[in-house]
Amino acid sequence: MDLKDTFMLSNGEKIPRVGFGTWQSKDGEEAYQAVKTALEVGYRHIDTAAVYGNEASVGRAIKDSGIARSDLFVTSKLWDTALAKEDAAREIDESLSRLGLDYMDLFLIHWPNPLPTRPHFAERNAQVWRAMEDAVRAGKIKSIGTSNFHARHLLPLLEVAEIKPVVNQIIINPSVQQKELVQFNQEHDLLTEAYSPLGTGKILGLSELTELAEKHGKSVAQVVLRWSVQKGFLPLPKSVTPARIRENAQIFDFTLSSDDMALIDGLQGLAGTARNPDENSH
Ligand code: A2P
Repeated sequence: MDLKDTFMLSNGEKIPRVGFGTWQSKDGEEAYQAVKTALEVGYRHIDTAAVYGNEASVGRAIKDSGIARSDLFVTSKLWDTALAKEDAAREIDESLSRLGLDYMDLFLIHWPNPLPTRPHFAERNAQVWRAMEDAVRAGKIKSIGTSNFHARHLLPLLEVAEIKPVVNQIIINPSVQQKELVQFNQEHDLLTEAYSPLGTGKILGLSELTELAEKHGKSVAQVVLRWSVQKGFLPLPKSVTPARIRENAQIFDFTLSSDDMALIDGLQGLAGTARNPDENSH
């Protein structure tokens, strides 16, 4: 297995099993160089979002890489500014234009319950979903899905969706395992993508992980990403540091035993928890 290996989504599209995250990569040289390095070391799946403010830099790095579009998988996300169908249609076109792409492989509703329409999230999500379905029919997007959704947000969407969501991207790392939601995703043919797979760095200091990493001759980050892959998640590690971008890609030359996995499973809650999407705005 390597970075180019794929999962098959429930709509038959293929998605590389590890992606490169760009949340908190600053627009301009920082995001540009990070994505450029990621593509050089073999990542073929890049995850961005309108609200990250870096789509233009991500798009420029993709273009300059010279890699065939069909060999790349690019995800972006619809922000909370889109409350109705027309807003979403416009924002999809704007993401495409900033990325310099004529299609996105995956496009997600970024947040299930935006503040301006709270608590009427079901109506808002149904509206923007219509625009996302239209964009799929128009060839602007290949697959659509959600991010930060819980079962209570997904159930009403599944009722009205003509084109089903295929991915739910949520925060997952050893400290934030969201087991019930992962189970829900599985039962509804939603691939679980794991953002902040390193707990935005907070997980890396846990002594249990340092010992495990030493045993395997790997870094703590590599052990944590390997755990994510062996759990069947699709991790999206973020880094703007070339050596780390490379390091995070080298997770296919070792295996965690069931005891190792159980030890990491036991770290729930030790380095942060998930935010409630109905009480926070992102
Ligand atoms: P940086 O971008 O400065 O290299 P997550 O993917 O969970 O959001 O974590 C991202 C954070 O973890 C960033 O602060 C990133 O720093 C840091 N990070 C990413 N990869 C590694 C690594 N291999 N070792 C240590 N820190 C890392």
